[in-house]
Amino acid sequence: MKLLITGGAGFIGSNFIYYMQTKYPEYEIVCLDSLTYAGNLTTLSDAIKKENFTFVKGDITDKTLVNELFEKNSFEIVINFAAESHVDRSIEDSGIFLMTNIIGTQVLLDAARKYNIRRFHQVSTDEVYGDLPLERKDLFFTEDTPIKTSSPYAASKASADLLAMAYYRTYKLPITISRCSNNYGPFQFPEKLIPLVISRALADEKIPVYGKGENIRDWLYVEDHCEAIDLIIHHDVVGEVYNIGGHNELANIDVVKGILKSLSKPENLISFVADRLGHDMRYAIDSTKISSRLGWLPTTSFDEGIQRTIEWYLNNRTWWNDIVSGEYKTYFEKMYSER
Ligand code: NAD
Ligand code: DAU
Repeated sequence: MKLLITGGAGFIGSNFIYYMQTKYPEYEIVCLDSLTYAGNLTTLSDAIKKENFTFVKGDITDKTLVNELFEKNSFEIVINFAAESHVDRSIEDSGIFLMTNIIGTQVLLDAARKYNIRRFHQVSTDEVYGDLPLERKDLFFTEDTPIKTSSPYAASKASADLLAMAYYRTYKLPITISRCSNNYGPFQFPEKLIPLVISRALADEKIPVYGKGENIRDWLYVEDHCEAIDLIIHHDVVGEVYNIGGHNELANIDVVKGILKSLSKPENLISFVADRLGHDMRYAIDSTKISSRLGWLPTTSFDEGIQRTIEWYLNNRTWWNDIVSGEYKTYFEKMYSER
């Protein structure tokens, strides 16, 4: 089996590469990643040691490069993780989000079509459904929930989903789409809430909590997500969308306080700052479809997953220290100084 994994130097893509190398050591894996600020080749330093792994530095919007790559390799499965993924950055400037997330997906879909791949899997997000009100705990996103995006990031991901569905309907391209909730775990870039809290708390720095911290996210341990994608790409049915959730709904403030407690850090590190524009209130996933059809259920409780994640950040300080001391510092000052 030969796989193309795009965005594999990022958080979820790299975890997926390690998951697949462990479970299917005989698979050939090619990773295409342009190494944006969010991509980090040191993340893949162990993956690269394997003979049947190849890293290609390149942009998914580069049609020539993508076509050459497909021409050279007989990929059977393409899994598209590559994206601009941070909501706050999309609010600052949406241009690159449209390029990578929409045009990049189109370039890959066209190549997949031209080279008759067996499966194109698009990694999407629950953010395509917009949000749910805090006071309606009975509501969940199903695969039939209408697309109703809030941020430019979510709009770009929803556009990519629609394109993938269009290629299925029009050209019978064998696509599948998964829409998952907030992931957490090793190798997550420290701009995202959980690694941001861990890294700043360890440095005794203020932790910015947007608004009142009452927004709810459904936390999914990244390994559970990898397992779900593995099941989807190996299942014969195409043209399907699957929701993937962690069954771990928590308010941001409780996540932050829990991490501080685990690290024995004081709650006065918390600093309530101006809210994110258009901030989604609650995400909650109904993953009945993937559970009933593919037998998937998340197995990592938040208590277990967050402890593993905290330990990983404690044991891998060089990985994130290099990031937080580099250009990320300028980003942080720009994004947070006026809040
Ligand atoms: P990430 O930002 O950590 O990594 C993205 C990777 O894509 C990086 O390695 C980056 O270098 C690469 N990339 C960006 N633009 C590229 C381009 N034009 N060409 C080639 N490579 C490019 O993202 P992540 O958190 O790992 O998310 C992976 C996927 O999962 C994304 O599609 C995201 O929308 C989706 N998703 C993420 C979450 C989450 O909680 N992190 C939840 C739901 C869905
Ligand atoms: O739901 C899936 C999505 O989850 C993915 O599609 C996105 O790629 C991923 O980034 C994530 O989006 P969120 O916006 O939910 O994640 P983030 O870590 O940025 O924020 C989580 C919550 O914490 C959100 O309600 C905003 C809040 N927050 C975030 C940051 C960075 C803060 O209160 N303070 C912060 O400094």
